[in-house]
Amino acid sequence: MNLTEAVEGIVEIVRANRDALTTVLTNRSLVLKELAAGRIFTIPEEHWNSRVFFISGFVHFREKKDGVCSLYEIAVYPWFRGQGFGKILVERLQERETIIRLKCSVRNKIAQKLWKDCGFKEVGIETKWNRRKGRESTYKVLEWRRKNGNV
Ligand SMILES: CC(C)(COP(=O)(O)OP(=O)(O)OC[C@H]1O[C@@H](n2cnc3c(N)ncnc32)[C@H](O)[C@@H]1OP(=O)(O)O)[C@@H](O)C(=O)NCCC(=O)NCCS
Repeated sequence: MNLTEAVEGIVEIVRANRDALTTVLTNRSLVLKELAAGRIFTIPEEHWNSRVFFISGFVHFREKKDGVCSLYEIAVYPWFRGQGFGKILVERLQERETIIRLKCSVRNKIAQKLWKDCGFKEVGIETKWNRRKGRESTYKVLEWRRKNGNV
């Protein structure tokens, strides 16, 4: 799979998840930049005829100077949900990070179960104006720390 195909795959998933994502991945050039910088992990799939490739899920993150990794977005294309892909993406990040922080809408019960299962704990709550939805939204601030981390 080349980078252009990967960008298209991620754009498709963002489109399919508009309601759940507060996405910062708003355009193709940004997706390309983030992919090239290694700030997006993907689950690439090979279609049955082996010539069509697509992305079934991605996680977008950034490592900050203070050693905390901000997980901005995670999404799995609706067809592929419930097959463990979301968990695989989180585990890939947990293998290399010491602290991961994210915000998850209090309404998003499925994602909250994923975060709990993956060892994330609630460390705060934030209410902010959601411009796209035209209303205030409340988010849980969740954090995961590596058990033997020295931070
Ligand atoms: C959240 C999301 C990424 C999970 O991806 P997924 O590949 O379906 O998740 P997995 O199959 O790896 O399941 C992992 C865990 O998530 C939870 N989960 C997944 N689907 C669920 C469902 N329909 N109901 C309840 N819990 C569910 C479970 O804890 C599950 O663990 P289990 O299978 O051991 O019970 C996916 O639902 C998605 O893309 N949602 C829209 C975008 C979104 O909400 N992103 C998160 C923003 S914070």
